[in-house]
Amino acid sequence: MKIMVIGSGGREHALAWKIRQSALVDEVFCVPGNPGMDSVGPCFDVDPTDIQNMQELVLQIVPDLVVVGPEAPLAAGLSDALRARGFDVFGPSQRASQLESSKGFAKDLMAKYDIPTAAYGRFTDLTAALDYLETQSPPYVIKADGLAAGKGVVICQSLEEAENEVEAMMTGKFGDASSEIVIEEFMEGEEASIFVLTDGEGAIYLPAAQDHKRVGEGDTGLNTGGMGAYAPAPVVTPRLLELVQTLIAEPLITGMTEDDMPYQGVLYIGIMVTDQGPKVVEFNARFGDPECQVLMAGLPGDIVPALLTCATGGLALGHRQITDMMGLQSFQPSATVVFAANGYPEAYVKGEVIRGVDEAGAVEGVMVFQAGTDLDDTGQLVSNGGRVLAITATGDTLNEAFSKAYAGVNHVDWPGGFYRRDIGWRVRQ
Ligand code: AMP
Ligand code: GLY
Repeated sequence: MKIMVIGSGGREHALAWKIRQSALVDEVFCVPGNPGMDSVGPCFDVDPTDIQNMQELVLQIVPDLVVVGPEAPLAAGLSDALRARGFDVFGPSQRASQLESSKGFAKDLMAKYDIPTAAYGRFTDLTAALDYLETQSPPYVIKADGLAAGKGVVICQSLEEAENEVEAMMTGKFGDASSEIVIEEFMEGEEASIFVLTDGEGAIYLPAAQDHKRVGEGDTGLNTGGMGAYAPAPVVTPRLLELVQTLIAEPLITGMTEDDMPYQGVLYIGIMVTDQGPKVVEFNARFGDPECQVLMAGLPGDIVPALLTCATGGLALGHRQITDMMGLQSFQPSATVVFAANGYPEAYVKGEVIRGVDEAGAVEGVMVFQAGTDLDDTGQLVSNGGRVLAITATGDTLNEAFSKAYAGVNHVDWPGGFYRRDIGWRVRQ
């Protein structure tokens, strides 16, 4: 079987690595990939949001399954275009992926299906938005409707700050992405990420994960894509997961299928564990990064039957067999630490030599997934992005997974990079 993995981050390196281990798979193709993914299978330098070129590439390679990693190609309609040509795709349609690409769309669907989430207002008119703000109490949660590279949510403590933010967003702060905004009630609690594999009917719940969004130790500083993660997250008890399943995932998946936009792929549910139970913070139409790295590392079995069945249907029927093949019951605690370029998530330099990646990967139980990396003219590994490496490890316990991940980190020699030393502080003993 030939499988194409779309994307170039640590998430996609982990997916490609895991998929390559399947006995069902002969070859993995990566688009556009990165130097880490290049060691898994050939990389093709095509922009995944360029639907025309992507169709041409897929017609050349004829993969048995296309796995879409990031949100941008989904929002651009890649899954629809490839499905229309008869290819099997792990990744929701453009319409279904609006769960991520339009916060207002997601909020309206949750209201329709009676899914617990923060109360909200949705606005395209500045005066109406400002009037609504006055009826709310602090802190104020202001969200750009569209995709804003993870920066589209601002939490304001004062009314004045909130008014300024609303005005900035609605007058072009994130271009088109913030011409419409959502203003939300603030939810108090601990956050966790739930990942559901679905074909629009059946569902497989992966172990819950937690990531660290802030750049600084103690969860301080600016928001990032994620500086580290671990799974399973003990805050998500079996009882809580059951509530997420019955109150959130099932009504959403069933409702979307009934509304003629079946969701096929991985549904990422960001929840707040509040005093009143789990509430939705956000949906994403893809795996989290770096949560995907710990999920792929921790699953001992074969992920391919699950991915394939999400694309082709029949998940409910094959559920038991597919979860057995994945080794879901034997999931190994896992952790990942992100090594990022100094300055990230603001300006940073690229092109600095990184040494010790092979040594880190040689530590027992450690895998190094590459994200923003490149090779220079002499073939040396250099930095080429903000988040650069995800040093990932499994262990018999979460503590052991953290120790091993940091043992891996210690082998990496990259003066231009930094990492948080407190990943997993909530659960480390
Ligand atoms: P989002 O992109 O919607 O996940 O928002 C980014 C981050 O903002 C979340 O991970 C939360 O930490 C925070 N956030 C978003 N919405 C709320 C809310 N209604 N109440 C409290 N925190 C929120
Ligand atoms: N790690 C959070 C995300 O992928 O959105």
